[in-house]
Amino acid sequence: MNTPIGAVGCLTADQVRDVLLKATSAPSLYNSQPWRFHCTDDTIALHADRSRAVPVADPEHRELVLACGAALLNLRLAVRAAGVQPDVNVLPHRCTPDLLAMVRPARRRPATPTDVELAAAIPRRRTNRKPFLPTAVPGSLHSQLRQAAEAERAWLAIPEREQLPKLQALAQQAHDAQLSDAEFTAELRFWTGRNSGSPDGVLVSSSGPLPEPQDEWVLRDYSRGQANTRVAGKDFEPEPLICVLGSFQDGVSAQLHAGMAMQRVLLAATAAGLSSSFISQIVEVPTTRKELRELIGGGLWPQAVLRIGYGSPVPATPRRSLDDVVARN
Ligand SMILES: Cc1cc2nc3c(=O)[nH]c(=O)nc-3n(C[C@H](O)[C@H](O)[C@H](O)COP(=O)(O)O)c2cc1C
Repeated sequence: MNTPIGAVGCLTADQVRDVLLKATSAPSLYNSQPWRFHCTDDTIALHADRSRAVPVADPEHRELVLACGAALLNLRLAVRAAGVQPDVNVLPHRCTPDLLAMVRPARRRPATPTDVELAAAIPRRRTNRKPFLPTAVPGSLHSQLRQAAEAERAWLAIPEREQLPKLQALAQQAHDAQLSDAEFTAELRFWTGRNSGSPDGVLVSSSGPLPEPQDEWVLRDYSRGQANTRVAGKDFEPEPLICVLGSFQDGVSAQLHAGMAMQRVLLAATAAGLSSSFISQIVEVPTTRKELRELIGGGLWPQAVLRIGYGSPVPATPRRSLDDVVARN
């Protein structure tokens, strides 16, 4: 069945299809794509789809809301790039908490160069789990990424070099705790190591190399053991840029804004020619998240830990069709 996608507000039907494709190309934990969209003549509504939650890794649905925030930023930018101003109402009804935002493509307004640049980065952004080049990210780009987070009312903490061993130890501690939990590993196996043709989950072709003992930053095996063994010497970069996206509060609204900030950072990185991946173990295990909170200070709630650097191209991960995620009346 084809989704009857029609015009919404100032957007034509083709533009609506385009902005929804951009929204659904947002990142999500295990590519679970926990969102639904409902279009009317004047509004695109974004709903959390809790039937697609990842309950062991993300029992409180914090990362689910982050992913929806990322989809909302993509939607806003795509509407802006179409030369239309989106009026956005976040969490509009207290009694319908899964209705996360209503976006009204209300009136024409020329896009800014930043809108165009970030919207163009949406289809190019990918999670890159492969080793990056051993080239450090220059300080000028650190500032750009920080500004991207601040533009969405969040904060990007870039830990000092002497804090990194502690961060590495926290990542390892969280990773070990998760892998010792049979329910966690069953969930990880369910979502990863998929073959091409799967519209969700992570494909073997998008996984990184199998973990090896010399790796300084512990990364999850997303291939279910099927990735190629590493070519000798092709190790992970010695000094990735590690940053922690933090929010000033930790409720659903703060997490939704943090998701927008996370995505703006990822798109700004993509636009600057950088690649990125996640090290989420630390923020998924409550004890290590608490320690990370103390480490970054400032009263910030750590929401996402990102690894950024110069990577080689990786394939896109598939998405479910719009037929499965969009309804209209
Ligand atoms: C909140 C959140 C947490 C994530 N955590 C991890 C992670 O710990 N490790 C990882 O390799 N990818 C992680 N990802 C990336 C997703 O697996 C990825 O977005 C998804 O597979 C879709 O692929 P894409 O980002 O290339 O479009 C995370 C994504 C989100 C939004």
